[in-house]
Amino acid sequence: MHHIPFYYTTMAKEKIILTGDRPTGRLHIGHYVGSLQCRVELQNAGGYDKLYVFIADAQALTDNMENPEKVRQNVIEVALDYLACGLDPTKSTLFIQSQIPELCELTFYYMDLVSVSRLQRNPTVKTEIQMRGFEGESIPVGFLTYPVSQAADITAFRANIVPVGEDQEPMIEQTREIVRRFNHIYGPTLVEPEILLPGNAACLRLPGTDGKAKMSKSLGNCIYLSDSADEVWQKIRGMYTDPGHLRVQDPGKVEGNTVFTYLDAFCRPEHFGRYLPEYPDLDELKAHYRRGGLGDVKVKKFLYAVMEETLAPIRERRTEFEQDIPGVYDILKAGCEQAREAAAATLDDVRRAMKINYFDDLELIEEQAKKFRK
Ligand code: TRP
Repeated sequence: MHHIPFYYTTMAKEKIILTGDRPTGRLHIGHYVGSLQCRVELQNAGGYDKLYVFIADAQALTDNMENPEKVRQNVIEVALDYLACGLDPTKSTLFIQSQIPELCELTFYYMDLVSVSRLQRNPTVKTEIQMRGFEGESIPVGFLTYPVSQAADITAFRANIVPVGEDQEPMIEQTREIVRRFNHIYGPTLVEPEILLPGNAACLRLPGTDGKAKMSKSLGNCIYLSDSADEVWQKIRGMYTDPGHLRVQDPGKVEGNTVFTYLDAFCRPEHFGRYLPEYPDLDELKAHYRRGGLGDVKVKKFLYAVMEETLAPIRERRTEFEQDIPGVYDILKAGCEQAREAAAATLDDVRRAMKINYFDDLELIEEQAKKFRK
């Protein structure tokens, strides 16, 4: 029989939420509707024991190893975006991944539990390898194994709820496999996480302003949380709609029309009363567009008003935090200290389960002393 560590029976019932982002650029509205909004709602609703949000700089370095300055500059950008969105350091622990050395140690042990072929089959890793043009033997070991380090990120804090975008599903699955294998071999020690995805299809994968499947910096189709009101309007103004909707009176398509997809993601019924009282709700607006007689500019102006309701307060808070960068670093430093403590406690349990806790195991020393004593 395995020894069941004390916390497993008590703490596994805790609700611990954890998630993070790679600091490779400022965060955009795709991040917001896909995950940030959900975190802030979870934070403000309460009912959880711990909420960790971290900046995955070490993971960002796995494919930006030659560009540490980019990662370094974006750590503060992401931190500002977090705070701007309403993540509150008195309620959430905000930290930087690389400052938690315990994560490296966990990663090292978990690597024994995963095969190279399993990592190569990870769908997210597979596409990323193609996208980055790493080939065969040139794939950096650290890149191939980042899902293992992600398992360390999650399990170090005993997180059982991980709110992330859909693209992260394979990472959570891989983590679950590592947890099950670890617990099977060494006894119940780690907590299996669940992914938490946005309920709304438009939020799940927000297209870029050009209508391409994904909003991403490399495609230049992002609306950033830190964009000015004017930049937001210019980007909305230039957005793709229905290419067949040439004159106002023409019938238009709503499906695949990015302006309507964004409305699906951002619009709430109360916005109509405020900005477009001649329609009761989004369904009626869509119906009119389909019939014809509704111009793109009118819909875009409405979308702008709706989005600004979310973006303006975020922008304002960001500007405030930008005035106190040392204060933001203090928040992150305090978060790192808290996070290290939690990770160190898990690492103790892991070492005990793996029987590499020699100096704490007085029984072992005594037993061996007896065995060898003449
Ligand atoms: N892979 C995530 C991303 O690319 C970042 C990340 C690293 C993460 N470790 C994590 C997310 C642990 C959730 C949990 O955005």
